[in-house]
Amino acid sequence: MEWWFEFETASDKEEPFSFVYVGDAQNDIKEHWSRVIRNAYSDLPEADFIIHAGDLINHGDADEQWGEWFHAGGWINGMVPSIVAAGNHEYSKIVQGAPRGLSQYWQPQFAFPENGPAEFKENVYYTDYQGMRIVTLDTNLRGTELDKQITWLDGVLANNPNKWTVLTFHHPIFATSPGRDNKEVRDKLMPLVEKYSVDLVLQGHDHNYARGMVTNVSEGTNAMSEKSDTVFVVSVSGPKMYDFTTKNWDDNGAEVKKSTKNTQLYQLVRVNGNKLSYEARTATGELFDGFEINKTPSGEKQIKETKPANQ
Ligand SMILES: [Fe+2]
Ligand SMILES: [Fe+2]
Repeated sequence: MEWWFEFETASDKEEPFSFVYVGDAQNDIKEHWSRVIRNAYSDLPEADFIIHAGDLINHGDADEQWGEWFHAGGWINGMVPSIVAAGNHEYSKIVQGAPRGLSQYWQPQFAFPENGPAEFKENVYYTDYQGMRIVTLDTNLRGTELDKQITWLDGVLANNPNKWTVLTFHHPIFATSPGRDNKEVRDKLMPLVEKYSVDLVLQGHDHNYARGMVTNVSEGTNAMSEKSDTVFVVSVSGPKMYDFTTKNWDDNGAEVKKSTKNTQLYQLVRVNGNKLSYEARTATGELFDGFEINKTPSGEKQIKETKPANQ
């Protein structure tokens, strides 16, 4: 049987576009995740790409799990490109005398831009799409390996001609599961998030949902800034669920505007000129969360809640 796929390349100009963003798929992918990606595509068939914020599968070395992931996405993956951040589960558990590293399936399966730091080719990269720069980082890498990404990111954001900026990586700046805290990621990334007024930070790893901002500022918090216009999201698309807490947000001067647990979700983002609109929907398509960002000609942002009032 032959399969033919039609796809559209990006415009070299600023034009309206849209994309899907999902958190961890990871487990029981055919059983429980396939419906999520199908519903996302049904709601937004014109989506130009899909952002996956890591943990696509549970075992990076498991060929059959990658098989499930590609099967679940099916022909959608043939038509809509993926932008993928490496999660901890994309890292190999098989050591075989070599250092533990990114899954051997990563590079053969995906073709990402080779514009990142040389040693992190295709797991750290950026994509420019019709007025938006999407930067993908690998937050599994810490210490000097994270420092190298930060230095690179500073340059990539300093020379960014796009109106919109999105960061995606796996480990959230503000954790949402009890006992979790990615302090090094937060300490190193937040200065750049604020310096460049990043619009969206799209993350995974904590297997629940939170969307919020740095709002500050009460005495005694470790808040890093008195003002921030960046929206941070943690989401989950697969069936594995963790308990939820706002503690790590509260402790660091950030505020959760909308959250839930035990709910598979997908997100739809539409961009048209100075306006970005965001929706989070449950696996069955119900609208769960929403907001809009409007940019004034001077570059100021106005953020409007559009989430359903009855939740
Ligand atoms: Fe994870
Ligand atoms: Fe995960």
